Amino acid sequence: MYGQNHDESLWGDPYAFRPGRFLERPVERDELIPQGGGDPATGHRCPGEGVTVGGLEALAVRLARMEYTVPEQNLTISPHRVPTRPHSGVLLAGIR
Ligand code: HEM
Repeated sequence: MYGQNHDESLWGDPYAFRPGRFLERPVERDELIPQGGGDPATGHRCPGEGVTVGGLEALAVRLARMEYTVPEQNLTISPHRVPTRPHSGVLLAGIR
């Protein structure tokens, strides 16, 4: 999954934080696979993806309205853990 989601031939500059890339063209079902690929009923795809994406949509709006800073932390991701998670989690400070 890490290789797929960081494939330069698909994403050009996969390590750049450039969310606008997803507005540039439609993303096919099995191109971006943070929760596995294929059909959840028959393949290796997380059945919780709909719930997760719904929660992220709600969270994104709240985060955009909050004030906070992101302190120094270890945001590297181990390829040995599923689901993936930054080593320090994602720590926010000074939340208002
Ligand atoms: C950021 C959140 C999540 C990530 C990154 C994630 C990722 C994954 C991945 C990679 C798999 C393995 C797919 C495979 O190779 O077969 C998986 C399986 C699974 N996930 Fe998630 N997941 C997330 C959230 C959730 C949530 C919220 C639920 C439940 C509401 C859920 C339920 C499951 C279940 C039950 C499986 C096992 C499916 C099976 O083996 O038949 N996941 N998930």
